[in-house]
Amino acid sequence: MRELEEKIDRLAKSSDLPKADLLELITHVTPELSNYLFEHSVTLSKNQYKNKIFMRGLIEFTNVCTKNCLYCGIRKDNNKLHRYHLSKKEILDCCGEGYELGFRSFVLQGGENPTYNDAMLCNIVSSIRKQYPECAISLSAGERSKQSYQDLFNAGTDRYLLRHETASISHYKKLHPSTMKIERRIQCLYDLKEIGYQVGTGFMVGSPYQTPENLVEDLVFTKELNPSIIGIGPFIPHSESPMRNFPAGDLNLTLFLIGISRLMNPKALIPSTTALGTIHPMGRELGIQAGANVIIPNLSPIHMRKNYNLYNGKLITGEEAAESKDNLAIKLKKIGYNLVGERGDYFPE
Ligand code: 5AD
Ligand code: SF4
Repeated sequence: MRELEEKIDRLAKSSDLPKADLLELITHVTPELSNYLFEHSVTLSKNQYKNKIFMRGLIEFTNVCTKNCLYCGIRKDNNKLHRYHLSKKEILDCCGEGYELGFRSFVLQGGENPTYNDAMLCNIVSSIRKQYPECAISLSAGERSKQSYQDLFNAGTDRYLLRHETASISHYKKLHPSTMKIERRIQCLYDLKEIGYQVGTGFMVGSPYQTPENLVEDLVFTKELNPSIIGIGPFIPHSESPMRNFPAGDLNLTLFLIGISRLMNPKALIPSTTALGTIHPMGRELGIQAGANVIIPNLSPIHMRKNYNLYNGKLITGEEAAESKDNLAIKLKKIGYNLVGERGDYFPE
């Protein structure tokens, strides 16, 4: 135990550890070791961001996707889903509601849907930028060309979220159809960085066939990329996906990886994800107590939320809903944090 704690001390001090030590840590998760880790990760998070938790408003603008990731509930081949597209006006209305609620940061997330071509997405982003000049705009719209990313950046997008999902080539192949390539995804992430975005990446914990070594690769890749945002959530099966029979990722392992990621990337913005809130009633709070500092409540039109069904049981009500952010603020206050609406930018140095 003392040996493992020393590894955590070293990681907290230098933000880095050899792969073998990372593997030792994540294969020896106990409640005691987790608590030891979280003391460090919360301290680092507070050094950087005080006791602020940044809220972003999530607008799921379309659940149409041309991709077929084997784990995902809105994959192309799921024909049991009502598919929708939000119009520019509907998206702007969501921003308007969010703005009234105090949100100064919006996340537009959608499947890979060619209907939202560059011209259309740029038009949407520049309208939001014009109407809400002081707000941050994040986009999560999949793999695109560098020119497309550049145009969206010029239109006013500040951040782009594209989880690498798994950094292992062989594991990536098990989770995706052969047409999808990890190399392409990684190229996209480096293109986004080069353009000047605050880039978000991340991975699932407990996805089918994942090994502890794979998770070490995820940690190492994430550190190498040096992103602004790191999204980590448990895999949760979806009954209409080919991976329906695999078990969900483990809560404690997910929290542990959030803690380790905080130590390796002290300044990162780390969301306490919806998936975490879905597998445990206190998941969101536990994520923050492991070192996360962002929460992304849902601002999508209420009657559409059920259709953005990435995995079974995905939360859309309660504190997951933007309208309930006052309740969320109360819950966070109880554990010593302030929920804030501000942009919450990442400042490297
Ligand atoms: N379980 C957990 N997360 C999932 N995602 C997609 N499907 C699932 C699932 N079954 C995540 C992916 C993607 C994000 C939008 O949702 O990591 O990047
Ligand atoms: Fe589409 Fe993203 Fe789901 Fe893959 S994970 S099927 S790209 S929405």
